[in-house]
Amino acid sequence: MAPLPVPILILSVLLLLSFHPPAKAQKLINYFSAANSPWFPSNNSILVSPKQTFAAGFINSSSDSYFFGVWVQQSSNKTVVWSLNRPRPVGNSSCLAISPSGVLSLNDSSGSNLWKKAVGGSRLVLQETGELRFGKWTSFDSPTDTVLTNQPLPPNRTTLRSGNYQLVNATSLVFNGADTFWAATDVIRNLSSDGHLLMDNAQNYIMADMGLSVLRRLTLDVDGNLRVYSLGRHGQWDVVWQAILELCTIHGTCGVNAICEPLGSNGTTCSCPPGYEKSSNLRDCQRKIPSLVQSQFLRLDFVSFRDRPGTDDPKPTPLNLETCKSRCLDNASCVAFSYKYTGQQDCVILHNQLIDGYWSPATELATFLRVSSSETDVSNFTAMISMIETVCPVRVSLPVPPKASKTTARNVSIIATLFTLELLAGILSFWAFLRKYSKYRDMARTFGLELLPGGGPKRFSYAELKAATNDFSNVIGSGGYGVVYKGQLPDRRVIAVKRLRNVGGGEAEFWAEVTIIARMHHLNLVRMWGFCAEKEQRMLVYEYIPNGSLDKFLFPNEEVLGDDTTEESKKRLITPRPLLDWNIRYRIALGVARAIAYLHEECLEWVLHCDIKPGNILLEDDFCPKVSDFGLSKLTNKKDKVTMSRIRGTRGYLAPEWVIHREPITAKADVYSFGMVLLEIVTGVRNSGFRRSSLESEDWYFPKWAFEKVYMERKVEDILDSRIADSYDDRMHFELVERMVKTAIWCLQDRAEMRPSMGKVAKMLEGTVEITEPVRPAIFCVPEEKAPSEL
Ligand SMILES: *[C@@H]1O[C@H](CO)[C@@H](O)[C@H](O)[C@H]1NC(C)=O
Ligand SMILES: *[C@@H]1O[C@H](CO)[C@@H](O)[C@H](O)[C@H]1NC(C)=O
Ligand SMILES: *[C@@H]1O[C@H](CO)[C@@H](O)[C@H](O)[C@H]1NC(C)=O
Ligand SMILES: *[C@@H]1O[C@H](CO)[C@@H](O)[C@H](O)[C@H]1NC(C)=O
Ligand SMILES: *[C@@H]1O[C@H](CO)[C@@H](O)[C@H](O)[C@H]1NC(C)=O
Ligand SMILES: *[C@@H]1O[C@H](CO)[C@@H](O)[C@H](O)[C@H]1NC(C)=O
Ligand SMILES: *[C@@H]1O[C@H](CO)[C@@H](O)[C@H](O)[C@H]1NC(C)=O
Ligand SMILES: *[C@@H]1O[C@H](CO)[C@@H](O)[C@H](O)[C@H]1NC(C)=O
Ligand SMILES: *[C@@H]1O[C@H](CO)[C@@H](O)[C@H](O)[C@H]1NC(C)=O
Ligand SMILES: *[C@@H]1O[C@H](CO)[C@@H](O)[C@H](O)[C@H]1NC(C)=O
Ligand SMILES: *[C@@H]1O[C@H](CO)[C@@H](O)[C@H](O)[C@H]1NC(C)=O
Repeated sequence: MAPLPVPILILSVLLLLSFHPPAKAQKLINYFSAANSPWFPSNNSILVSPKQTFAAGFINSSSDSYFFGVWVQQSSNKTVVWSLNRPRPVGNSSCLAISPSGVLSLNDSSGSNLWKKAVGGSRLVLQETGELRFGKWTSFDSPTDTVLTNQPLPPNRTTLRSGNYQLVNATSLVFNGADTFWAATDVIRNLSSDGHLLMDNAQNYIMADMGLSVLRRLTLDVDGNLRVYSLGRHGQWDVVWQAILELCTIHGTCGVNAICEPLGSNGTTCSCPPGYEKSSNLRDCQRKIPSLVQSQFLRLDFVSFRDRPGTDDPKPTPLNLETCKSRCLDNASCVAFSYKYTGQQDCVILHNQLIDGYWSPATELATFLRVSSSETDVSNFTAMISMIETVCPVRVSLPVPPKASKTTARNVSIIATLFTLELLAGILSFWAFLRKYSKYRDMARTFGLELLPGGGPKRFSYAELKAATNDFSNVIGSGGYGVVYKGQLPDRRVIAVKRLRNVGGGEAEFWAEVTIIARMHHLNLVRMWGFCAEKEQRMLVYEYIPNGSLDKFLFPNEEVLGDDTTEESKKRLITPRPLLDWNIRYRIALGVARAIAYLHEECLEWVLHCDIKPGNILLEDDFCPKVSDFGLSKLTNKKDKVTMSRIRGTRGYLAPEWVIHREPITAKADVYSFGMVLLEIVTGVRNSGFRRSSLESEDWYFPKWAFEKVYMERKVEDILDSRIADSYDDRMHFELVERMVKTAIWCLQDRAEMRPSMGKVAKMLEGTVEITEPVRPAIFCVPEEKAPSEL
């Protein structure tokens, strides 16, 4: 069979997701009354709202069974938002009828009326709000799994249902009728048309597209999460809010003894722990060797379980690890224990069955699973530790390089010391990570960011920020988007305030965009804490990153030439910066790659950075890299949107397809910019500097020159940063450096489609995929006009 053309495939996927409206010509009716009663499924009539936003009628759930429901006619999906009898469908001989005495009825096969309480009316009508009305009866009083804009949520009872999940009392998400796993801060009242989820206590949740007036729905999805969707221009539904961000914390996601793991934007996956296998129902897991008479423990990092259903969550007791272990061994029904490394050394003994298992660093604990001593499986829940080692090491302070010294011996000894330090660090890094993670979490809690996107970033007043920055006196940088000031909040937290230029749109739009930016969490992204939008002022408040940007470390001489003579930069000139060693350069590269991959692939919305350069990569005091300025391209003035491609990006880092053809920016343009940064990290030379110094020679195009050195002359050492080339040790560094160079050349391919995705780039750097030989980058012409963001 010939493969189906893509459009047909897409079409059939859409058809699978939606239901079939009656195939024969539909008859649109504006009301249903005794005059056009009865109404059979075969009538092919649909009741529409005045502007045909909504429609109601019989929907077949299988070939000859129907339920009566309301759907969004304007969604490409014809999404059902209310139903009378979805769990109890009727056959094609059933009909909707209005008796002369004003009783609406839909009878099932046994003749009993499913449409209770709809009495005393004469016409069934569908309002423009999606509300079905018959006399005093309204569908808004008995929602199924969805409520619509301005539809009040009935309090004090089960509000919404979906499979085994319920929203109870308009506050709590409950699994299997009793097991509460999420509660809103108060009773949810309704979803307002401007994008707020209004709460009784007025601590409202804000939708990501707050301010737009579009059709929205609040739905309890089959996966147990509560989400708000907005109807997009093409009839698609966009998620603009969800109650639970860590999907694995939804109870009942996986079966007994199974472990839930997040799959980025693709939801979750369930797997069995080591020593366990799928049981016959394919949902639960069971021990491969049931007997525990002789037992051992397998350590599962960041995995948490709850005890068997029905038992109360056991109280954690503070015990040392060995005592905790022997408590478990002493009790025949103990199948595992969990242990918190931080704080109180909490020991929790788990009996019989393990439920609601999931993996998340937020648990800060390890579960020690009891298995037979003859079990040969080893734990595979240790991956996180190695990732932390490469991304963010424990704090090491680099020694400052000797002033203009040429003594190789000294440099080598510095690097050697460092390397020893790092080996030690590797062993301790697990604990270091936990400490660090808790720090972030606490920070997030303070700002209420944990509840994002619902909670939203903190809103600062202009006066607050003016006071915090000492009347905007301490400039620490300026870029394409505005000037950055250092400041301190009353609670002593140090902040960086970015005062934006050229931001269009109203406060609401700004707020909506900022909420999206604030929702992006990654160890290697600069955290945004809040914002200010007052009259013409638009400011963003970030965590302060003490070491400044990568370019100051890579190209320290530029600073002397620069004309910004702020206090900070003067201070920096006095204290020379340390040289970054190979290991740290590698970790910076990997961290940045992961952060951009996260922006491209894992965020709810696709986010292109559009201005990746060393100046936008900040370094923590342990040299953990943090990418800044992401998401800002979305904030630029609406009237600039047409020319936006011109104002974004920095010359030298722009992808060729964009410079030459002025094509719209794609994710692959970010990949190109990253490749250029990678090459600069390895060589310690700014690409524009390289161009100036080699303009006379044949190969003035940086990527082409690097390619020839690496792949044709096979002299990797020729392109390395000469300042630390001495410390380059083949045995220790060859693999790291080679991976960085080869990955860079893949990123710098002339043709966008040849470049790998950012996720692949991160894998290439990690060494988990093989790097084949790329095509040689050719020369391309760099126009001499200055890009405005450099002005
Ligand atoms: C359905 O069809 C019957 C008979 O064909 C007709 O009397 C009735 O008015 C129709 N009802 C609707 C709602 O179209
Ligand atoms: C509804 O009926 C149509 C036509 O009989 C059929 O093709 C379709 O599969 C049915 N829908 C469902 C969900 O069974
Ligand atoms: C269609 O609607 C269902 C809910 O009724 C939803 O789960 C699905 O994602 C929707 N598909 C699209 C393409 O919006
Ligand atoms: C109603 O369903 C029966 C089978 O259940 C079928 O034989 C009959 O043709 C259907 N009638 C209509 C009008 O579709
Ligand atoms: C539905 O059933 C009731 C009795 O339970 C009966 O009085 C009524 O006529 C039936 N209506 C239809 C439309 O069949
Ligand atoms: C929605 O809730 C708010 C706050 O409780 C209330 O003021 C407003 O009247 C409600 N709107 C509707 C349509 O019920
Ligand atoms: C809900 O319950 C509370 C207390 O139990 C009561 O004060 C309130 O009136 C109830 N609300 C409704 C709408 O029934
Ligand atoms: C819902 O409210 C009732 C009383 O109004 C209370 O007894 C019940 O525990 C609540 N359920 C949940 C899940 O909060
Ligand atoms: C999500 O699924 C798509 C298609 O199945 C796949 O290409 C993509 O890599 C997945 N993303 C993640 C983060 O797993
Ligand atoms: C651990 O191994 C099991 C079974 O081989 C697999 O299903 C699961 O995905 C693995 N988990 C991790 C984190 O690698
Ligand atoms: C094992 O633990 C269970 C649950 O706490 C307890 O009921 C039982 O008595 C314990 N058995 C022994 C031998 O300590």
